[in-house]
Amino acid sequence: MDITTVFGTVVPGSSPGGSTMMRAIGGVVGEELRKRFGTPLYVYDASVVSKRSRELLEAFPGMLVHYAVKANANPALLKIIKEEGLGAEAVSPGELLVAEHAGFKKKDISFTGPSLTEAELRFVANRAGRVHLDSLTQLETWGRLKLGSTVSLRLNLGIGAGHHAHVKTGGDGSKFGIVPRDIPHAKERAARHGLAITGLQQHIGSHVPDGSDYIEGAAALLKAAREFPDVVHVDFGGGFGVPYRSGEKQLNLKRIGREVLRLVRNFERQTGRSASYALEPGRFPIAEAGYLLVSVTDRKETAAHTFIGVDSGFNHLIRPALYGAHHEIENMSRMSYRRESVTIAGNICESGDVFAWNRGMPVPKIGDILAIKNAGAYGISMASTYNLRALPQEILIKNGKVKDITFDRFPFLVRL
Ligand code: LLP
Repeated sequence: MDITTVFGTVVPGSSPGGSTMMRAIGGVVGEELRKRFGTPLYVYDASVVSKRSRELLEAFPGMLVHYAVKANANPALLKIIKEEGLGAEAVSPGELLVAEHAGFKKKDISFTGPSLTEAELRFVANRAGRVHLDSLTQLETWGRLKLGSTVSLRLNLGIGAGHHAHVKTGGDGSKFGIVPRDIPHAKERAARHGLAITGLQQHIGSHVPDGSDYIEGAAALLKAAREFPDVVHVDFGGGFGVPYRSGEKQLNLKRIGREVLRLVRNFERQTGRSASYALEPGRFPIAEAGYLLVSVTDRKETAAHTFIGVDSGFNHLIRPALYGAHHEIENMSRMSYRRESVTIAGNICESGDVFAWNRGMPVPKIGDILAIKNAGAYGISMASTYNLRALPQEILIKNGKVKDITFDRFPFLVRL
């Protein structure tokens, strides 16, 4: 059929079902991107990063928003996030170095990490504005090595949430944070080393389904803060979800912000204390900005599935294989009347290397470009060189202009 060749992110549908076709990202047509850079290709729309970053600052007025670098550490994207006024949250020396490289100042970088070595703790103590210690062992090391006179503790208050068990970071099943029964020990150790506990942090999990768990977590953290008279900084962590399925609603961030601010005001009124407050979203500012463009290379029918083979795999986007995560997939090359149930499979030599099982979509043909959506967060940052396949190039689209922002991450992988 005839396709409408309008340049725009989404071209209003010309199909009988009123569906839409995505031919372009940020005004640049997929075919043009493939001609210049080939596939697989990560494509980021700068305007979406800016928009979502601003929404965070607006929803939580007066609070510090530290972007969780683990979601996507590309320095060009970090720079946009920094220019919008966010800080950075790092979990490894490498992430800390890349945040510095992107221009974040020490005071705007926070750090939390599990199972750190002494060398790592020493390294980050000097470079991050605030380090949230994850365990009694880290606290002991901090005191013994005299890494500072104040400490911040990551607490695990038993509240966990997230899209998959792997990403729930609160509760007894989680390795993170200092649990309530260890709080007296933490206070005792801090006192023994002459350390003032001036900060508290928690992160309950990732892609929390609605705001209620986040608000419950914030309330619990502020309740705990009452028992720490020296605390002047409270960090509620990240976890805000984004719509992955078409038709799914955006999170009501403003409502969550209002609720958290109400809790903060109550805390300050009732205790007569004041503090600074922070959050650490990773997925929210970046997920929807990113697409993984792949080309269809094969088609194979078995009794069970129609496999559509593409030139990428879980080495580039592991979320579907690792969590069973859903990513919408759009055919950027054609709009077809005929829909079919297809399984989009990658080129990695494992049967679990599938982007979507039995998904109804317009029939893809060999050579078509498929856009895997919402790939900006935990896409390239979790990518590997498994099967010795190269990492995709990365492209930024800003004001209709295309820039190659492929990130050479290897210089940042320090061993201490
Ligand atoms: N702060 C801490 C301490 C974290 O561990 C995380 C994420 C965040 C902030 C940011 O969470 P976010 O706002 O992005 O939900 N690979 C998984 C997500 C793992 C998140 C781990 N920690 C995925 O692809 O869904």
